[in-house]
Amino acid sequence: MSKIPTFLDMDPGIDDALALTVAVKRLQVLGITTVAGNVSVEHTFQNAHHVLRHLGQALPVTPGAQGPLYYPLLTAKHIHGSAGLGDYTWDTADVPMPQEHAWQWIWQRLQPTSDPCHLIATGPLTNVALLLLAFPESADRLASITCMAGGMPGAKLDKAAEFNVFVDPHAADAVFRYGRHLQMVGINVTHRALLPIKDLPRLKQYGRVGGMLFTLLSYYAHTSRGEGGDPEAFPVDDVVAVAAVDAPNLFEWKSMPLTVVLEGPLRGTVVISPLETKRPEVMVASSINVPEFFEWLWASFDISG
Ligand code: BDR
Ligand code: CA
Repeated sequence: MSKIPTFLDMDPGIDDALALTVAVKRLQVLGITTVAGNVSVEHTFQNAHHVLRHLGQALPVTPGAQGPLYYPLLTAKHIHGSAGLGDYTWDTADVPMPQEHAWQWIWQRLQPTSDPCHLIATGPLTNVALLLLAFPESADRLASITCMAGGMPGAKLDKAAEFNVFVDPHAADAVFRYGRHLQMVGINVTHRALLPIKDLPRLKQYGRVGGMLFTLLSYYAHTSRGEGGDPEAFPVDDVVAVAAVDAPNLFEWKSMPLTVVLEGPLRGTVVISPLETKRPEVMVASSINVPEFFEWLWASFDISG
């Protein structure tokens, strides 16, 4: 079966690094754009390069926004480490940052003659919003935009606002307004699919890449344990969005128009948009088959290339 051509927009970030590793195995990754979120855009850009070189992949990486559309940047260094990838020591040097911006880079690859490409966003949605605002036709040229973001309205959530939407609620709102073929994978599903800490040593059988993921995820398990309500397991949020594109049948989906609370105590909460605002329907993941998701995840590491 041919692999789905996909752009990744991310803020690596430890769970982004896992998502990148699995995406490279499962999908035809065309390139990575990076955004400020878990750490600065300088770090997310270098981190994408570090992980790719560990994977033996020479894919293009293009940096994007240095911060949210409106608010100052809030990072998650307390979860992902001061440079974004825990305390991992990289044996690869930093590379110069290109001048081009993420949204220009994606737009140039979305010409009418190109094959339909998908976009998976696993950081704050700033780059995706800027793509849709600067180049509105990109909405129809993308086969889908799948974001790890928010939580399904009406679902029982363990927190009101999810990080990627909280950090840049204006961007998320713009994506829900101007995007098309949208899919949202929120914490109502990612916090159901918790990875048991006792399973981490399984990663060590997958060579250098498995060793890297074992070190990164052991750090992350420690800093994020308890999120999702189980002290012996932790969420691996971003890779769930990769599953949504590669194996959508692992999920149940509900269609609804969405908007975002932009300020105040509920900042970053995703809510159903009133019908008269005429927003596009978003396919929202409403449940996940957890055992089959983990079968899919572990089988990813056996895929060569
Ligand atoms: C999201 O927040 C970030 O810290 C993770 O990388 C993930 O994208 C989960 O809420
Ligand atoms: Ca992320």
